[in-house]
Amino acid sequence: MRLSGKTAIITGGARGIGKETALTFIREGAKVMLADFDEAKGHDTMSELQSFGEADFVQVDVTSREQVENMVSRARERFGAIDILVNNAGITSDGFLVSMQEQQWESVIDVNLKGTFLCTQAAVKVMLDQAKGCVLNASSVVGVYGNIGQSNYIASKSGVIGLTKGWAKELGPKGIRVNAVAPGFIITDMTAKVPDKVLDAMKSKTPLKRLGLPEDVAKAYLFLASDDAAFINGQVLGVDGGLVI
Ligand code: NAI
Repeated sequence: MRLSGKTAIITGGARGIGKETALTFIREGAKVMLADFDEAKGHDTMSELQSFGEADFVQVDVTSREQVENMVSRARERFGAIDILVNNAGITSDGFLVSMQEQQWESVIDVNLKGTFLCTQAAVKVMLDQAKGCVLNASSVVGVYGNIGQSNYIASKSGVIGLTKGWAKELGPKGIRVNAVAPGFIITDMTAKVPDKVLDAMKSKTPLKRLGLPEDVAKAYLFLASDDAAFINGQVLGVDGGLVI
């Protein structure tokens, strides 16, 4: 098992990519602290996880420092360590530049960018005490190459890439690796809002001729979290079937 003896916090773990990552990690031997805003789905997912191993759930809004600190304390008390943090919680609120409301800008930047900052800051304090750890961030192809109608999301996901590189340099000497994934279009509730014709266009532009599945991204997180990636730091791994090369 590739994560035997390791403990992980996965934000936004109640559904979608976060849930699949939690299932993948626990099957590989990790103890998992699932953290999500959605309490009902979070408990359901935690029950599923518990049939494979040790898991707990904490309700958190990643934009709240107080709640994030509580999440980290819970994980440390429950499991005694935090080896892996997956900053997966994220939202979209799309609109063309001229019509995007300030509230749409702020909500997406708050969850995707400030949330990543707050969770990493809190978890890294524990990782520094341990002199080891691994932080994994959710970027997107959109953060690398841009997209129409997603100013807020682009800014948040390219911001996450900048943080990944900066933190890799700052924390690497302390034994903490920081990497990101940049998925293409993955079939989850998030992309259920995207019109079919856009998804069909993405599929036909993708050399592998399909959309991504949550497990495609979960396996990338697994690799980056595992000791197989021991010398990989500050990287952004595309998980997009070759959509953007
Ligand atoms: P999803 O919408 O299916 O799940 C997101 C989860 O985050 C939900 O369980 C939700 O309750 C939770 N969440 C939202 N706001 C939160 C908050 N303030 N505090 C705590 N939890 C919160 O999304 P999906 O598709 O699984 O995406 C996961 C991550 O991957 C996101 O960061 C997303 O931006 C990124 N991503 C997704 C892609 C896709 O095509 N689905 C493509 C590229 C990146």
